[in-house]
Amino acid sequence: MPKRYDESKTGALDALHVENRVFRPDPQTVIEANVTPDDLEAALALAAADPLAYWERAAEELEWHRRWERVLDDDDPPRFRWFAGGRVNIAHNALDRHARSGNKNRLALIWEGEAGDCRKFTYYELFREVNRLANAFRSLGLVRGDRVTLYMPPLPETLIAMLAAAKVGASHSLVFAGFSARFLRQRINDARSKILVTADGFYRGGRVIPLKPVVDDALHGVHGGCAETVLVVPRVGIDVEMTAPRDLFYHDVVRRESAEAACAAMESDDELFVLFTSGTTGRPKAVAHAHGGFMVGVHHTFREVFDVKPTDIYFCTADPGWITGHAYGIYGPLLAGATSIMYEGHPLYPQADRLWSMVARHGVTALYTTPTLLRLLMRYGPQYPKKHDLSTLRILGSVGEPIGAETWLWLHKHIGRSRCPVLDTWWQTETGMMMISPLPISPLKPGSVGKPLPGIAADVVDAAGNSLPPGKGGFLVIKKPWPGMFKEPTEDMGEARACLSDYWNRIPGMYFAGDMAHRDEDGYYFIQGRADDVLNIAGRRMGTAELEAALLSHRGVAEAAVIGLPDRIKGQVAKAFVAPVPGYEAQFDGEDGLRADIARHVRRELGPIVAFKAIEFRESLPHTRSGKILRRALRDGELGVERDEGETLEDE
Ligand code: PRX
Repeated sequence: MPKRYDESKTGALDALHVENRVFRPDPQTVIEANVTPDDLEAALALAAADPLAYWERAAEELEWHRRWERVLDDDDPPRFRWFAGGRVNIAHNALDRHARSGNKNRLALIWEGEAGDCRKFTYYELFREVNRLANAFRSLGLVRGDRVTLYMPPLPETLIAMLAAAKVGASHSLVFAGFSARFLRQRINDARSKILVTADGFYRGGRVIPLKPVVDDALHGVHGGCAETVLVVPRVGIDVEMTAPRDLFYHDVVRRESAEAACAAMESDDELFVLFTSGTTGRPKAVAHAHGGFMVGVHHTFREVFDVKPTDIYFCTADPGWITGHAYGIYGPLLAGATSIMYEGHPLYPQADRLWSMVARHGVTALYTTPTLLRLLMRYGPQYPKKHDLSTLRILGSVGEPIGAETWLWLHKHIGRSRCPVLDTWWQTETGMMMISPLPISPLKPGSVGKPLPGIAADVVDAAGNSLPPGKGGFLVIKKPWPGMFKEPTEDMGEARACLSDYWNRIPGMYFAGDMAHRDEDGYYFIQGRADDVLNIAGRRMGTAELEAALLSHRGVAEAAVIGLPDRIKGQVAKAFVAPVPGYEAQFDGEDGLRADIARHVRRELGPIVAFKAIEFRESLPHTRSGKILRRALRDGELGVERDEGETLEDE
């Protein structure tokens, strides 16, 4: 008997919305595209015949201090090293190169605060700001190979600090400003950061969100030698406690520094940044990206997919704290010499037309955003985009979670005026760059992420690694290395490091990071979701193990299990099942009091971005014979799925 879903309860109807139309590109788009159909054919042919020659060409488009000896050092798989022997600094290519060329006076960044205040930087201005901070970092003792933690909202100084760290050869670790003090402390310790950069606070949803007090809390109990210096950017002007000599105001430090600074000539494989990402076990793990490979992969795919032109104004709505913000909010546009927009605040502030008003006011030509945000905006209806002139838009991109045909069609019709291509791009923190995506010249199928980009050896396989025919779902794998692939952070990060073999050994010899997919007869890929216990809540990865650990650290919780449920706006939400310690609720005036306390506790542990849709109490939780909690049984119960008698529930 097939599984039955109660559609009214789960919203599964949307997911089943089938759209068979194919949307062909506008002829003008094809004529004007950087990558024409002929170019694409040639690129695919070269990449298939000689992938290393393909990526070597991509690397030649950038400036290197010293040319590589080998395009790919594959002597110790899966520890692949791209452009081995080459010396390069991404900051040189993202800034210095432009500041000394015809791009010098082009706008690099348009930053808009939530209240509507704007700050604009040309490439030359940004270059000078970055140099000042790079010099300040050097004066504070930061050297090549160190790490800097940034606990920053979207501010120009966030971008400046990332590039200044890169310039001196330090690796940056950006912690999203919605994470808790405990999280931040752990990440500072993991990264052994000498310097922390933060802000006094920022604006979001019409409120001031203080950050410095969170930092002060985080720094209690931080390891010796970590965060010896804290630079504070005064964004909102609130009173903050400054602890001498540790805490310094950003402007006091950069004011006395020169606006000239040289880039450290890094080995191509040297670490540029780390980002933490959730997996199936334990706490989030740090993945690292290197100057050379990440730079080449992001530069190449950004220009290919977004078809960047000198006149473009590009707007990525992702927070810089996530990989999308790193790769295509900051580095991609700078490497391409483009003009990009960064927005500080809430997308619904002061009204549901904030994004559309920004598109109209700045003349945005390319918009890269997420399905959750689009579904949220859709709910307010098309009258909001209708109020604004969106005619400058020419390319729309989506990332992070399945967009689904309904949202795709809304975006295409109401935002793209049925003319702009909607590009659903599939990639991950670990891949570092877009992997599967249509190009503006591609015929589009709503709900599909298109085909692998040239140079990306994707496939859909069974557990033994055999390629599956069209229509059959299986594991989405990448069979050959690609330049943006992550590397393991240096050994000093110990247990916090993501391990390459976890990704390359599950299906021997191939990279598998957890997604299921199928292809159609035309070779178009459709992402079916995660194969593991990683949730995707509003486009943010959360491990059930991580959420359960936070629940279990509450003294009233004896057992806990977390499952993901479908949600109309967020794609997925988390529901917790908790077996309380018997009698514990008496301390809280009953179950509701205990439930509220557990919710508060988890927020404190993990940060304000974490919330459960519901916390349900059970006397006990279902287990397998080996003692593991059966999340699947809980999920089936919630979704009304019935299984055949005799169908066994395997361990999860
Ligand atoms: O499950 C896939 C989903 O997001 C995961 C990667 O999450 P993260 O590392 O946080 O990076 C997000 C931004 C690149 C993937 O394993 N995902 C990403 N893009 C898509 C997607 N699912 C469906 N469609 C996409 N376009």
